Amino acid sequence: MSGFQILPNLIFLFFVFQKKAWHTIKTMVNLPVISPFKKRYSWVQLAGHTGSFKAADSGKILKRFSENEKECFERLMKDPLRSCVPCFHGVVERDGETYIQLDDLLTDFEGPCVMDCKMGIRTYLEEELTKAREKPKLRKDMYKKMIEVDPLAPTAEENAQHAVTKPRYMQWRETISSSANLGFRIEGIKKADGTCNTNFKTTKTQEQVLQVFVEFIEGNTTILKKYLKRLQEIHIILESSDFFKRHEVVGSSLLFVHDGSGNANVWLIDFGKTTLLPDGQMLDHRIPWQEGNREDGYLLGLDNLIRILESITER
Ligand SMILES: Nc1ncnc2c1ncn2[C@@H]1O[C@H](COP(=O)(O)OP(=O)(O)OP(=O)(O)O)[C@@H](O)[C@H]1O
Ligand SMILES: *[C@@H]1O[C@H](CO)[C@@H](O)[C@H](O)[C@H]1NC(C)=O
Repeated sequence: MSGFQILPNLIFLFFVFQKKAWHTIKTMVNLPVISPFKKRYSWVQLAGHTGSFKAADSGKILKRFSENEKECFERLMKDPLRSCVPCFHGVVERDGETYIQLDDLLTDFEGPCVMDCKMGIRTYLEEELTKAREKPKLRKDMYKKMIEVDPLAPTAEENAQHAVTKPRYMQWRETISSSANLGFRIEGIKKADGTCNTNFKTTKTQEQVLQVFVEFIEGNTTILKKYLKRLQEIHIILESSDFFKRHEVVGSSLLFVHDGSGNANVWLIDFGKTTLLPDGQMLDHRIPWQEGNREDGYLLGLDNLIRILESITER
């Protein structure tokens, strides 16, 4: 790797560490350093597991392979939703590891601002719930994260074990964030200056979410209107999509991207946990979840998101 490529990243890191106020930089380690000089800061991972992404040929990224996500992308490429997701370019091997190759959604932006919104009222699969019930795997790490936010959250039993199960932790996270009441939550934001914030765990009320959005778009109504138009388009496409009807869409995000030139767009990403329903079964994506019905509340979340953005334009 040449100094020409390393230098901008060092400058970036320096810059980020200078700005302590807006940080939580779990994303830093993943920044692919081999991007062309011109777009040196463009790629960022706002959520998800560290190390699951790798730089690819220009305009593409590699994501750690999962059979389920690959199959989702194969079906998506034949669905109207194709226009709302990164294009899938098959499976590749790099350094003995398997990846799926996707379009890098940040390519056409100059200094992009990025926001990841995790959609749905439920962020774990019903299957995970069943498994945890049959064979509870106790997570000390999740217990620790829980008491960091709210020392009173664990039950007496959980306190005795110093551990919680994964669905319990995820259920709790849904209630402290906006997932449970609004059907989506903000996972992370990267601003144009390169600073990241992934500390929205307790951003819960409509007013709090609205404030984060206003800050993200820096009050720019031109950008806001473009986002709204695209969300309405996505809404229409979702209603017409066979893929959408036939999948439990859990843990998937909407990725918002805009830049100073006025370019703004939204895509659906992350189908790692999106599951095909048994033959013939369909979801409404709006009716409340009850264990067994597999409803995910995706459209509830999208309706709320659109309504909140509209309320900003009316202010
Ligand atoms: N096609 C893409 N183009 C640009 N950025 C992307 C793309 N896909 C993912 N990202 C970035 O990477 C982050 C994580 O993506 P994703 O949710 O797919 O990863 P993950 O590891 O499956 O997450 P999780 O661990 O929550 O399942 C996103 O928030 C976004 O910032
Ligand atoms: C909003 O963004 C557009 C595109 O970047 C820009 O041309 C315009 O001047 C901005 N408006 C305000 C009020 O900042």
